[in-house]
Amino acid sequence: MENDLGNYRKSYEKGALLLKDTPENPMELFQKWFYEIDEHFPEDETNAMTLSTIGLDGFPKSRVVLLKKYTYEGFIFYTNYTSEKGKAITTNPNVCLSFFWHGAERQIIIKGKAEKIVENLSDGYFESRPRGSQLSAIVSNQSQPIESREVLEKKLADLEKHFESKEIPRPDFWGGYIIKPIAFEFWQGRPNRLHDRIGYTLEKDYNWSIVRLSP
Ligand SMILES: Cc1cc2nc3c(=O)[nH]c(=O)nc-3n(C[C@H](O)[C@H](O)[C@H](O)COP(=O)(O)O)c2cc1C
Repeated sequence: MENDLGNYRKSYEKGALLLKDTPENPMELFQKWFYEIDEHFPEDETNAMTLSTIGLDGFPKSRVVLLKKYTYEGFIFYTNYTSEKGKAITTNPNVCLSFFWHGAERQIIIKGKAEKIVENLSDGYFESRPRGSQLSAIVSNQSQPIESREVLEKKLADLEKHFESKEIPRPDFWGGYIIKPIAFEFWQGRPNRLHDRIGYTLEKDYNWSIVRLSP
């Protein structure tokens, strides 16, 4: 098979990112871009982000997860702690997040350290989820092989019966991680491949250094 994509070409013309417009704290630029995407390009699924971990086999692996909260401290998502990503994070908490918002021709890459959030925060979020999502979090032994879809559906039906008109407790293998950032790269596509890239690095004094990077 051969599919030559050499003539797939696009001119990026939707915006600019200048050093003079960058705040001291990259979370503020993240928030500004997040709001803009949410308002003008919601079809980009603004809170979908790619999480890359270093696996136990030494290979990086990336997958999409949903950002559920962000603060100056970091980025929170929820998952199964015993999944492949959970095991990877336990061994190596250094991870990378990336957002690609093609409507605005923007990318943000964030390196950081992942840690479990406190249990009562995970409890609060779990409680807020629809019952179907609560049950599927319990049913899915995420990342493990299963015999068939029917096995999963049967397990779900059994659990539905078991918890009928009862509160569903959060299983201790499911909860949130916070990624505490140490570096950001903001990328804004520009014409003629002269894209804007602004990098932030967390310094020892907890201030952020800012630099323009070659595209
Ligand atoms: C749009 C989208 C959103 C997703 N959100 C989550 C999420 O918030 N948490 C999660 O554990 N998996 C989420 N997934 C599934 C993951 O990409 C992945 O398949 C799953 O977490 C298992 O990954 P692992 O085996 O590498 O641990 C999402 C997938 C997509 C495409």
